[in-house]
Amino acid sequence: MVIDFLGGLFSNDMGMDLGTANSLIYVKDKGIVLREPSVVAMDRDTGEIKAVGSKAKQMLGRTPANIIAVRPLRNGVIADFEVTHEMIKYFIKKVHSHKTLLRPRIVIGIPSDITGVERRAVIDAARQAGAREVDLLEEPMAAAMGADLPIAEPNASMVVDIGGGTTEVAVISLGGMVVAKSIDVAGDELTDCIIQYFRKKYNLVIGESTAENVKMSIGSVYPLKEEMKLEVKGRDQTQGLPRTLNVTSEEIRHALLEPFKLIVDVVKNTLEETPPELAADLVDRGLVLAGGGSLLRGITDLLRVETKLPVHRAADPLSCVAVGTGKRLEDLAEQGSNISSWWQKK
Ligand SMILES: Nc1ncnc2c1ncn2[C@@H]1O[C@H](COP(=O)(O)OP(=O)(O)OP(=O)(O)O)[C@@H](O)[C@H]1O
Ligand SMILES: [Mg+2]
Repeated sequence: MVIDFLGGLFSNDMGMDLGTANSLIYVKDKGIVLREPSVVAMDRDTGEIKAVGSKAKQMLGRTPANIIAVRPLRNGVIADFEVTHEMIKYFIKKVHSHKTLLRPRIVIGIPSDITGVERRAVIDAARQAGAREVDLLEEPMAAAMGADLPIAEPNASMVVDIGGGTTEVAVISLGGMVVAKSIDVAGDELTDCIIQYFRKKYNLVIGESTAENVKMSIGSVYPLKEEMKLEVKGRDQTQGLPRTLNVTSEEIRHALLEPFKLIVDVVKNTLEETPPELAADLVDRGLVLAGGGSLLRGITDLLRVETKLPVHRAADPLSCVAVGTGKRLEDLAEQGSNISSWWQKK
């Protein structure tokens, strides 16, 4: 108990966005100190960790037979417990390189619809990785806090967080989520659709990194002022040889619109379930987009047309959840110091 208390005094407590695609760590007074892909490369036979984060991501699809690069989280939840725990341990160590003995308190963002078992797994993985105390915060709440939405007010705020594995939509009022919905369709599904498109239409097999690059370079969900072209390299499925072809932003948009419709539907369903008083607030305030998936071209235009509401993208959509967990950490620290000053006065 005393050691925990002392550990808390000297350690850098942290907020963590443990995402399917990217993990971020926020430290009080420092801001975001770590931003790494949630990827681990390991020896297939011995399980020995070879690389974590960006180094491991570069290895995805390029590893020799004895090394595998894995994403230990799927759809925002832990798919591989051991590897997730090793990854968190590595991240904590990287942030606290000079203070390895101190155990931090960690606030972690989690999807809003995860099960009790999945919550427990996040807590256990973080504890085994060295956390002294673990607090969980629903990602839409964290995203809203990180985007500076006035969540404590009795007015509605709406956030749509399009990540790698999940899209989470929530209407928040008086500090709580009034309606929350989540689907397993987000940025990674859009990348998969591009892989399928090339295979079906051109008999061209492309890797995940290439497909993600196509999505980021020319991907869109609404007509662009100036349409774009891109040269794409892959392996011809029939001849087995490398091949290059040119594609346009229009054809990639057609490939993306079908899965994206599922994201539009979940936004609309959330609005349908929003109580009328709060729905009325949203007419003026609109909704705020967060998550890396919200960087896709034309999203604000498409959602504006589909919902007839104002649509804004958060200033730094990739960081909102991590910043929100950091804010929660600061709130908890404040509550703690209020309690301790109350205790001292007694
Ligand atoms: N410029 C961009 N255009 C389109 N998509 C992008 C862009 N930048 C990042 N993405 C996509 O954003 C996704 C990652 O976003 P983010 O880091 O918010 O996810 P995450 O928090 O790790 O995942 P989740 O919240 O689902 O667990 C990836 O699918 C990535 O391809
Ligand atoms: Mg996320």
